[in-house]
Amino acid sequence: MKFSSLTDRVKGSAADAWDLHYLAKQAEERGEDVIILSVGDPDFDTPAAIIDRALKALRDGDTHYTSILGHVELRAAIVERYRKNSGQVIDVSQVITTSGAQNALFACSLCLLDAGDEAIVLQPMYVTYEATIQAPGATLVPVVLPAERGFRLDRETLQNAITERTRVIFYASPSNPTGVALNREELELIAELAERHDLWVVADEVYADFVFDGQFHHIASLPGMAERVITIGSLSKSYAMSGWRVGWAIAPPQMIANMEKLALCMLYGLPGFIQQAGAEALQHCVDDLQSMREIYRRRRDNLFAAFSAIPGLEPLLPEAGMFMMVKVVGSGYSASEFTRALYAATGVSVLDATAFGASAAGYVRVSYTLAEADLEEACNRIKSFMESLT
Ligand SMILES: Cc1ncc(COP(=O)(O)O)c(C=O)c1O
Repeated sequence: MKFSSLTDRVKGSAADAWDLHYLAKQAEERGEDVIILSVGDPDFDTPAAIIDRALKALRDGDTHYTSILGHVELRAAIVERYRKNSGQVIDVSQVITTSGAQNALFACSLCLLDAGDEAIVLQPMYVTYEATIQAPGATLVPVVLPAERGFRLDRETLQNAITERTRVIFYASPSNPTGVALNREELELIAELAERHDLWVVADEVYADFVFDGQFHHIASLPGMAERVITIGSLSKSYAMSGWRVGWAIAPPQMIANMEKLALCMLYGLPGFIQQAGAEALQHCVDDLQSMREIYRRRRDNLFAAFSAIPGLEPLLPEAGMFMMVKVVGSGYSASEFTRALYAATGVSVLDATAFGASAAGYVRVSYTLAEADLEEACNRIKSFMESLT
């Protein structure tokens, strides 16, 4: 039987990098002694108040169809949180709820791109971007943020990537995998070029609540940008709610209207009890978020200190998020060989960061989504592994 060409376009090319992760997961299920640092899912439980609200909502009968845009309570909570964080005053009509940030990214791609269009993506990039952008038949144009420059953006590279077919610039800041949060100058550069070439900007800010150092800047708050930026957010990381699938897009009204049409035929609204739980998170659980951020910060600092002390490893201090990039070329292995040899020798799984783009070659991505004792044990095993190579 024949399938549509879309099914080829959404294949993505980075899937192999996860083979080792799946192997480690299977080993864990068999009860073997493995330490999985290759996952992007918070290890915390969803705060109890959020679960209680969902249960109450279920018992109260919030089990029917909901509005396509989402409950006003949840959207108002998103508006309020956004105002507190960015200083921007927006209306609930500029918010649509989605099934996680991933669903919002996909909807943006379908609403902004046609076959033959080009979408610029800052690279290293989150792995689903490739399939997301290719789904409507558009071409992904990577703008490489070089490892030698700490994975930061420069004017010339971005400028040179823009053609008359470019429609949109996609990026995640803070970035998965690098942990880089774009600074004001970098955002001003994107804004300047987006305005000059009349481009949309899709700003994936799912890690914005986990910035450890300095202030997080929202591109939509730069002068003139609110009308061309779609800001994507999610509760997955901030409130350890990855399985609840609550995300959103904040965008100009016409874009929201288009996303609503798409959501009507693609999603048909998020479950009401989940939306109530999401509103609870945003309205009442900011203390949980802050304590998770402090735990991530402590883990980041400990991991960075431990890796820095291991000859042959060069960690990059992430400004945000739950991942650390570590250069492993000092081991004599490529990143892919390193991940396999490390796992075989120690049971520690990390991810070959080449999956996020060629500019991350030579790096592995290490998640710090495990308790500190497990992270310490992983560091000890990695240290012994490195010593065994010399
Ligand atoms: C940069 C980035 N964007 C989007 C997502 C998807 O998040 P969600 O669970 O909200 O769909 C992830 C998940 O890891 C991510 O790292």
